[in-house]
Amino acid sequence: MLDRLYTSPFCLGNFMFANQRPRIILKSEKDLQGMRVAGQKAAECLAWLVSQVTPGMSTQDIDDLQRDFAKREGVKLAQLGYNGFPKGVCTSVNEVICHGIPSKDVVLKEGDIIGINVTLIVDGYYGDTCSSVGVGKISDDAMRLLAVTAEATRLGIAACIPGNHLGDIGHAIQRVAEPRGFSVVRDFVGHGIGRRFHEEPQVLHYGKPGRGVRLRPGMVFTVEPMINEGVWQSKVLADGWTAVTRDGKLSAQFEHTLAVTEAGVGIMTCQNGKGEWEIPGLPTLDMSLLDR
Ligand code: MF3
Ligand code: CO
Repeated sequence: MLDRLYTSPFCLGNFMFANQRPRIILKSEKDLQGMRVAGQKAAECLAWLVSQVTPGMSTQDIDDLQRDFAKREGVKLAQLGYNGFPKGVCTSVNEVICHGIPSKDVVLKEGDIIGINVTLIVDGYYGDTCSSVGVGKISDDAMRLLAVTAEATRLGIAACIPGNHLGDIGHAIQRVAEPRGFSVVRDFVGHGIGRRFHEEPQVLHYGKPGRGVRLRPGMVFTVEPMINEGVWQSKVLADGWTAVTRDGKLSAQFEHTLAVTEAGVGIMTCQNGKGEWEIPGLPTLDMSLLDR
């Protein structure tokens, strides 16, 4: 996800200037095909990493496994060296919201939750996806957070249809999380994606129905809500990357890269071959806890 401040209207490069409409690159059918290939590869990598999560391994082990995957498949790791990020994958444990840096000193233990964010480049196209998974057996409270975050992601993505607005996405996410006592992170956002990692528009995970840019076929962006057990506020640790919850409570995240099409939502980062919803990374979740 993108740091909200990083994409303030004062930013240069691909981002907008104050009072200017965002420059959203609409994708051709050929682009969409490239994005499907990259997305599917990222999905495959993420599901494999998720399946390997076990108590006693370190987050560096996950980075190592991802390097093996990239080598084997001949794909590039988008996160490695991105704005100086030192590793190939983000591993965000418990109160870490996002951008956790893999380390041999962070050892997973039973009951933890971990978010794994994979971004691959295949033939110049980016595929970006993230999943949160329990380490061994986790508490009902932690599982409920994962279930709510997955449901928020599902309904946020379902709002990505032509004629809707960006605000409808954030609104759908808030409506899942907030009545259940959870909060939606505001400091990091989803983003357009294509032949660049981060393009316009910013995709806020909170918002008002009917507000913001109107969604049009050919737009490709991520929806990647970060949902917290406690307050939404974050802070970044001294390493300059690791974003944690202000109150130290748990945070979870799922992310898909998707396309807005005439026919509805096309999820690039799924493995079902149909572009249909599936929980990123295919973790085993108890969705019955959603309403308990
Ligand atoms: N993959 C994140 C996203 O969803 C961004 C991570 S940037 C990194 O946009 F530098 F931390 F890798
Ligand atoms: Co992203």
